[in-house]
Amino acid sequence: MSMMKKENNLFNMYNRINLEKIDINAQPPTEEPARQYYFMAKCREWVKEFQQKNGRLPGACVTTFGCQMNARDSEKLRGILREMGYEEASEDKADFVIYNTCTVRENANTRVYGRLGQLKPRKKKHPHMMIGLCGCMMQEPEVVEKLKKSYRFVDIIFGTHNIYKFAELVATRLELQDPPLAASSVYNGKSDRMVIDIWKDTDQIIEDLPNERKYSFKSGINIMFGCNNFCSYCIVPYVRGRERSRDPKAIIQEIERLVADGVSEVMLLGQNVNSYGKTLETPMTFAQLLTQIEKIEGLRRIRFMTSHPKDLSDDLIEVMGKSKKICKHLHLPVQSGSTDILAKMNRRYTKEQYLKLVEKIRAAVPDISLTTDIIVGFPGETEEDFEETLDVVRKVRYDSAFTFIYSKRTGTPAAVMENQVPEDVIKNRFDRLLKEVQTIAAETCAVHEGTVQEVLVEDICDHDSEMVTGRLSNNLLVHFYGGRELIGQYVDVSLKECRGFYYIGEKI
Ligand code: SAH
Ligand code: SF4
Ligand code: F3S
Repeated sequence: MSMMKKENNLFNMYNRINLEKIDINAQPPTEEPARQYYFMAKCREWVKEFQQKNGRLPGACVTTFGCQMNARDSEKLRGILREMGYEEASEDKADFVIYNTCTVRENANTRVYGRLGQLKPRKKKHPHMMIGLCGCMMQEPEVVEKLKKSYRFVDIIFGTHNIYKFAELVATRLELQDPPLAASSVYNGKSDRMVIDIWKDTDQIIEDLPNERKYSFKSGINIMFGCNNFCSYCIVPYVRGRERSRDPKAIIQEIERLVADGVSEVMLLGQNVNSYGKTLETPMTFAQLLTQIEKIEGLRRIRFMTSHPKDLSDDLIEVMGKSKKICKHLHLPVQSGSTDILAKMNRRYTKEQYLKLVEKIRAAVPDISLTTDIIVGFPGETEEDFEETLDVVRKVRYDSAFTFIYSKRTGTPAAVMENQVPEDVIKNRFDRLLKEVQTIAAETCAVHEGTVQEVLVEDICDHDSEMVTGRLSNNLLVHFYGGRELIGQYVDVSLKECRGFYYIGEKI
């Protein structure tokens, strides 16, 4: 498949040439991504030295907190680590631990500090260990201040805008000569050698860096970065920067390359994919991009995430209705059912507009599965407002919903709004909402019982090694008897029994 394209591509070219052919004694190139491949080659030398001293390769572990955007970034980090020669290791054995952090709610931050606290004694005992922190939480200046003050054992800190520079930052840290190379060395434990590199924002998009996919048959693909919506509760626009779209040609080329490498399902990623293309030199719409992607031969399933209701166009609904490849699932975060609260959230749609949109989508794609995000306890939310949310849940009948307790994020407009809702009131509402969501989800799931549908098999079942698990087009999970050879295959399965949020099926 399209060998020509592969040959012309820098990433593959470097893979073919082999990093060892890069002259690491020469000055580093200034252009990207060549510069990063140079630093990967440098780190590779260090890895070799480690191997000679310790009789084994160093292990690395990237742990992801947060959303699919972070999960995709982690795949890029793993790709770079692989090029450096690191082996993948579990976190408790890794010589290099990286936390790719999230800060969307306060508890995400708390978890990272907790995990860091646990790493500290390990690093004392194994001084050669390196700890890296990156992701959204690092974009907050007060977090970095706290780390500088109280977590001096962290080696590398970088943010969301310069993830592509990972190899250069690791090389910089390694050149500082400590930590010592041998896993058995003694080390004074002090580190004034934190490498910190955080950018406030960027308009750059660096293409063609390596990445390591979790699954061989499906992949996430960034189509855009950042967010311009500034929902009043949300920190994402502050930590992910301004919205910028990738060139459609680069997206199509990446998907073609993935398909040639065995991928048949892609998930197009962006904070608000419906506004794709607005920032391009030659603007184009998300619907147009999807139409182009649909034409890629060998690609069988297209998913995307996330859709902001205010930007979901008629064109897009039409494309979804006609498409043979776009999956029958739409994640359409409502956040609240109250028009008053939606206005305070700066969501720019009303309850009625949202419900109308759902009607339109269901008319165009009758068997579509709808899922959502809901926040409970936004400042000023009254019992009546909350009832409106329950009303939307009952009317839309979501296949599933992520429910969140409102979390105050410093720097966002909602954090200083009056009438913050008391904790016990929120907790009560949250429990009621969850119950409603779960009851309805079990009912909507049961609707497909008895039908035969195509499943893309993903893995062996956790709880039964004789069974495999996979997903329907509508994203629901199905478990059925089958072997490892089915992983990555599309199998027709009869849905025998609904178990709340997944099915037990039978291969036909
Ligand atoms: N861009 C996506 C969502 C990104 S964050 C979108 O607009 O849908 C994922 C979800 O986290 C949001 O949909 C919202 O429901 C929730 N969230 C964001 N900020 C929050 C906060 N301060 N408190 C509680 N939940 C929040
Ligand atoms: Fe946050 Fe709103 Fe942007 Fe989603 S659209 S990332 S909720 S600001
Ligand atoms: Fe979290 Fe950043 Fe995603 S804050 S939800 S990881 S964009």
